[in-house]
This record gives sequence, C-alpha cells and structure tokens, in this order.
Amino acid sequence: MDYLYLLATVLFVFGIKKLTNIKTCQQGNRLSEFAMLLAIVTTLAVGANYISWYVVISGLLVGGAAGAVIAKKTATTQMPEMVAALNGFGGVASALVAMAALLEHPLMHDPNKSLFDTGFVNAVSTPITILIGMITLTGSFIAYFKLSGKKLVHPVKGSQRHAFHAALGVAVIGLSYWEITTASHAQMTIATVLLAIISGSLGVFLVMPIGGADMPVVVSLLNSYSGIAGAAAGFVINNPLLVVVGALVGTSGLILTQIMCKAMNRSLSNVLLGGMGEEVVAKDAKDYKSIKSTTPEEVAMLLDGAASVIIVPGYGLAVAQAQHVVRELGDLLQKRGCNVRYAIHPVAGRMPGHMNVLLAESDVPYDQLWEMDNINSDFKSTDVVIVVGANDVVNPAAREATGPIAGMPILDVDQARTCVVIKRSLAPGYAGIKNPLFELDNCLMVFLDAKEALEGMVKEMKELSK
Ligand code: TAP
Repeated sequence: MDYLYLLATVLFVFGIKKLTNIKTCQQGNRLSEFAMLLAIVTTLAVGANYISWYVVISGLLVGGAAGAVIAKKTATTQMPEMVAALNGFGGVASALVAMAALLEHPLMHDPNKSLFDTGFVNAVSTPITILIGMITLTGSFIAYFKLSGKKLVHPVKGSQRHAFHAALGVAVIGLSYWEITTASHAQMTIATVLLAIISGSLGVFLVMPIGGADMPVVVSLLNSYSGIAGAAAGFVINNPLLVVVGALVGTSGLILTQIMCKAMNRSLSNVLLGGMGEEVVAKDAKDYKSIKSTTPEEVAMLLDGAASVIIVPGYGLAVAQAQHVVRELGDLLQKRGCNVRYAIHPVAGRMPGHMNVLLAESDVPYDQLWEMDNINSDFKSTDVVIVVGANDVVNPAAREATGPIAGMPILDVDQARTCVVIKRSLAPGYAGIKNPLFELDNCLMVFLDAKEALEGMVKEMKELSK
C-alpha cells in the first residue's frame, strides 16, 4: 500500500505547484482534494484490522459537510478568520493523534517501560506534537477573535511578560521530560494532560499581545505550525504520508510568512516581539488641506477619453462586494478599445491572494491581473488609475525614510496622468496614517461606497455609449 501513499504525496506536491498560478489553481485544489481522499482510503485499507471504518467515514462525512457549509457561508472579507480557525483544528487534530497513540501504546501499560523505550524518535516527537498542536489551536483562536475585532489584553505587561512566557516555556520542557521518562502510566497521563494545558496557555499568551494588523502574518505562521505538528504526528504513528504532507504545509507556510513580512517591510521578530499592542491612528491622519472631490459621472467622462486604465483593488472593494461591478466597468472600457489592467499589491486586502480570489470570482480574465513588480513601471504612461478601496498600498509616505510604513513597497499610482481614489471618507487605512496621495494635483477623490461609485460610472459609461 506504500505506493498509494507515495502517489498521494506526489499528487499533493503537484497540487501545491498548481496553486502558484491563477490559471491552474482550481486544478491544484481538485488534485489536492483527490490526494486527500486517496490518503484516507489508503489509511483505511492499511489499517483494516484495527481502524473502525464507521468512525473514519463518519468523520469524513461530518467534517466534509461542516467544511463545505463554512466555506459557502464565509464572506470574502472573513477569509482570514476562517483560515485561522481551520489552522487551529489542524493543530489540535495532530495533538489528539499523538495523545491517543501514546495512551494506547501497548508498551505504556508495562510498569517497567517509559515512552523512551518506544524509540527515540517516537519519544521526542510525541511531546513536540502536543506542544505545537496545542499552541496552534489556542493561538489560532486568539487570532480568530482578534481578526473579528475583539479586544484582548495580555494580563502581564512590559518585560515581566517575557519572563512569564519563559516560565511557561520551562514548564513545558519539564513536563515533556517527565512524560518521556516516567514508567508510571498514571504519571504519564498527568504529564500529558498538563503539557496540553500549558502548551495551550502558551499559544494564548504568545498571540495575545500581537497587534491586530499583524494577525494575517501570525495566521500564516500558525498555518506553518499546523504543518509541523502534522509532520511530528506522522513520526509518532509512523505514517510517512503525514510526515511529507506536514513538512510541505510547514515549509510553504514559513515561505508565505516570509513573503508577507517582506511586502509589509517588517521582520518576523518585529511582528512577534514588537509589542505593537493595538493599532495607533496618527493624530494628523485626517488632516488634509487641498482635496479635489468628484462624482462617478465626471469620472465616466474622464474614462471616455482614456486609452489606458489601471484598476487598483484594495480591502474596501471586498467590504463593498464590488468585484462584479468593477469587472463590468473593465469590460465596458475594453469594448471601447481601452487597455484595461488590474494591479495587485501582495498585501492588498487582509490576506495573501485576497484580491486575486475576489477578481477571479467575478471572472476577470487572468491576463488582466498584473503583479506589482510587473506593472509599476507602466503607471507613468497610464491615462487613468482607479484606486478602489485601497489606501496603504498606494501611500507615497512609504517612500519616506521613517514612519509606520517606511520602505513598504507600493503601487506607484501617483505617477499616472490622473488618479481617481474611491473611498467613503478621508479615514486612514490599516496603518492608521495620512495618505499624501489624496492631496496631489493629479488626484481626484470619489467619496462613496465602492459599489455605489462603480455602479454610477457604469451607468454613465452606458449613457455615453448610446
Ligand atoms: P487599507 O489600507 O486598509 O485601506 C482600505 C480603505 O478602504 C480604507 O481606507 C477605507 O476608507 C476604504 N473602504 C472601506 N470600506 C469601503 C467601502 N465600502 N467602499 C469604499 N472604500 C472602502 O487597505 P489596502 O490598501 O488594501 O492595504 C492593506 C493593508 O492591510 C496594509 O496596511 C497591509 O499591510 C495590511 N495587511 C495586509 C495583509 C495581507 S497579506 N493582505 C496582511 C496583514 C496586513 P474609508 O473608510 O474612508 O472608506
């Protein structure tokens, strides 16, 4: 049966590879889903003598149905929360597997044997799986609540906080040692339960002080942890597929975390230990002097004479659910011979790929989606740029030497002949700072909900075409 596990592993690798390209990502999802099914069926076949079919099949049906309902019900703006929760479930599943394997191991009922007698790898990977799995569970749910807007305050402040975390870390190491070395089944059970509880507390306290704005990075890191916990669980139950797939998730999560940190111009240690606390809104964040506001109808007239247009989607587009109407506007412009493209910043929205998912949902052709690095040099030769509900990712303040977003790569929309920004007010974006773009001579503001503004433009464009 090992060759079926190997086949599932290869399918997972190709599935992930296909996820890296918009054109093939749906295929990648299907391939990975099939690989997962193959893995479950193979596990059932391999363990036919000791696995209860009805338990596995019920888990498959109940879990699959719950996943389908959650995925259907979740709004595109709530995807980071959903990913956080799913990571947490992945982590606790691995921890439970390790605990069950330990408590059921035949050697564990021999009063002269400790976990160490099951072999070094098994002994070490058991507490590691419980530790990482439980940190992933509780850390992910703290991230979930923070992303949902809940204010959570760490009970310990300042440098004492690090000492408190270190004390929990020492307790975890001590309990792991106890769990591995004791020959008493009762003591091992106590050590395991305490290890799970303290590891869970560690997850809560480590994630609690991290700022809400940094949560997507933390979610990506916890996703990596859920993979590492899975790989460690693979060593516990001697399942090579789990080791390989866990390692794939672990490393890809780490790479994604790295990419996000780079795009936000932050280091991982700065995110995790920066003690950012809650977000701060700068005092001058709404302090604007020369703002030129306009209407959707006037923008439509401007677009009427444009040969090239770049649309920049941001978080506000997701909030307004304006992905379909933005495509309608793009189609109208293209029919008039205008070159229409969409510029995607790596951290536009609230999670990696947020904007690609939204635009793909409304069938924007893939060849119109351009990554920041490939389109940035084209802004200066573009007639009109329409920024839809984006703020930080187009903020020229990032070019300054200091400030909260200093050094963050941005889309150079200020270099276009005309830049139209659609947002409801002069409120700041995620970073909580003023955006000097809004005061530039070539910038026009449309102070409306994104959907309403775009619908107005579409209506007027249709009138102009008559
Ligand atoms: P933001 O800077 O948050 O700006 C979004 C803007 O949309 C807001 O200024 C808001 O202004 C406007 N808006 C909200 N609802 C709207 C609606 N219904 N209609 C029209 N406009 C609306 O978003 P961004 O430019 O996409 O930047 C992303 C930010 O998130 C960055 O700071 C980034 O570092 C951070 N972040 C992203 C990620 C990833 S991976 N994507 C991860 C962590 C952090 P009004 O209130 O005035 O309308």
